[in-house]
Amino acid sequence: MSTETDVISGLEAAALRELGAVSDAAALEEWRVAFLGRKGRVTLLLRSLPELPMEQRRDVGARGNALKRRLDEELELRKQALESRRIEEVISDRVDVTLPGPPIPRGRLHPITQTLRDMLGVFKGMGFHAVEGPEVEWDHYNFEALRIPPDHPARDMWDTIWIDYEKDGRRPMLLRTHTSPNQVRFMEQHEPPIRIVVPGRCYRFEATDATHEWMLTQIEGLAVDKGISLTDLKGTLAAFARRIFGQDRQVTFRCSYFPFVEPGMEVSIDCFICRGEGCRTCGHVGWIEILGAGMVHPDILMSMGYDTDIYTGFAFGVGIERIAMLRYGVDDIRHFYSNDLRFLRQF
Ligand code: PHE
Repeated sequence: MSTETDVISGLEAAALRELGAVSDAAALEEWRVAFLGRKGRVTLLLRSLPELPMEQRRDVGARGNALKRRLDEELELRKQALESRRIEEVISDRVDVTLPGPPIPRGRLHPITQTLRDMLGVFKGMGFHAVEGPEVEWDHYNFEALRIPPDHPARDMWDTIWIDYEKDGRRPMLLRTHTSPNQVRFMEQHEPPIRIVVPGRCYRFEATDATHEWMLTQIEGLAVDKGISLTDLKGTLAAFARRIFGQDRQVTFRCSYFPFVEPGMEVSIDCFICRGEGCRTCGHVGWIEILGAGMVHPDILMSMGYDTDIYTGFAFGVGIERIAMLRYGVDDIRHFYSNDLRFLRQF
């Protein structure tokens, strides 16, 4: 073996050894320049061929060129290996796209809002329009126009939060105790036919317990038209109860008193827990009261200027918290507004 071929073997061994130690793109480039660059060791070797004696030239030339090809290939392989390692590092260090992402907290609608929207949806499906009214209300609309004068005992039905305010000789203001004032407000501004639902917050000066809150949400319903009868009220409320609580619901109407309706009634559904047998949810009576209703009192229709020989109407008021409690099996109304996320996250 000639010295030149020894040189080639040594060069090859050195090149491969050093290549083995290369660990990044910069080192690889240094290696390339050192061996394969314009002044690299392999390049210089090949350039020195003309200076060799004739008999060595062919052999050294062939082996030198083979070495150059081999190192070119190794360079390419190394480059690819480094690149895929870099990509792997990027993926595993920063974004492992195969891992589930960090949880994004999502808000959700309050159970009362959900129930309110479902209920409004049912009434809208029956042709009712939703309108709104003020939460701070005149005594006039909350009571007097509903046939509840100042000294009327029925005022005791609604413990009132008063606001110390009087204007233009009008009686004081209050936080509305029910949504019924909107019956009057709407009828003042519109002629029959009327079909509205009025959702909104109401307030009562009340000690709170498992079934009473000082703030509650109601939906008022009002329909006034030619020939509206109690049958229409019953059909509307039965359809509503079945849409919210299930198709096989039974609905019962019992006489009750509200000064602004005649006759007035309380509407109950058969207990969907015990199916009428009696249990804790229904207080062992088999029926659960869900709302107050009745035929709009003719005095009120008359004071709106409606011809009571032609027009009749029905009205109802339903408490949403009560419906939501029954619907979701919530046993304490105070949960709804205590802002306990453990409770709210269940809906
Ligand atoms: N406003 C009554 C209440 O809050 C409910 C009601 C509405 C009753 C409409 C009859 C007609 O108790």
